[in-house]
Amino acid sequence: MLNIALPKGRLGDQVYKILEDAGYGCRGYREKNRKLILENPEKGIRYLLVKPSDVAIYVEHKAADVGIVGKDILLENQPDVYELLDLKIGKCKMVVAARKDYVEQPDRTLRVATKYVNIAKSFYGEQSRDIDIIKLNGSIELGPVLGLSDVIVDIVETGNTIRENNLKVLEEFKEISARFIANKSSFKFQNQIITELVDKLKTGGKVGGEEK
Ligand code: PRP
Repeated sequence: MLNIALPKGRLGDQVYKILEDAGYGCRGYREKNRKLILENPEKGIRYLLVKPSDVAIYVEHKAADVGIVGKDILLENQPDVYELLDLKIGKCKMVVAARKDYVEQPDRTLRVATKYVNIAKSFYGEQSRDIDIIKLNGSIELGPVLGLSDVIVDIVETGNTIRENNLKVLEEFKEISARFIANKSSFKFQNQIITELVDKLKTGGKVGGEEK
């Protein structure tokens, strides 16, 4: 059995559609129950439904052989896995944003609220900018609104959250999308089934919204 870590939620549904189009559907995915493991014995695959930010952990530790994860998580956690394919869905941008009335003061230590601590440190490190990181786990946009931070480093997809909380994007600095990853030892020992799956995703499914 090939264990595939699938992110739960909106991205997971898009990813599942691509897998299904490529011939890797699985009975029960669309049933509204709390099952976390689904199997397609004929295809020899098993889906593990996990929190999006945990996909790479399962794959790195070989609890899953392959998985689909946002590039933001890969950049932040640098897991020791192979990145085999850009699925070109779940597209968003990593940005710096602040209140609309924010004025940059380069001599002051910048207070940065983010859940992407390593990405923020590396971004400002390259500019030799002194920062204090305020690690948040969600609703990052509240940081500048409440004066907890000067800026945020976060992902923007539609831009609605930024707009509706009266923030502005100061800088876009990374393109993000969903990536197909594999455990290094699984890639060696289950190479055939993994390569076949990647090839079908490239040619059989709809990658990037285009019918192939
Ligand atoms: C993410 C991100 C932004 C929002 C951006 O949060 O942290 O808040 O999505 O999307 P938008 O540009 O389409 O508005 P998420 O929805 O994951 O929730 P969170 O606040 O719990 O992190």
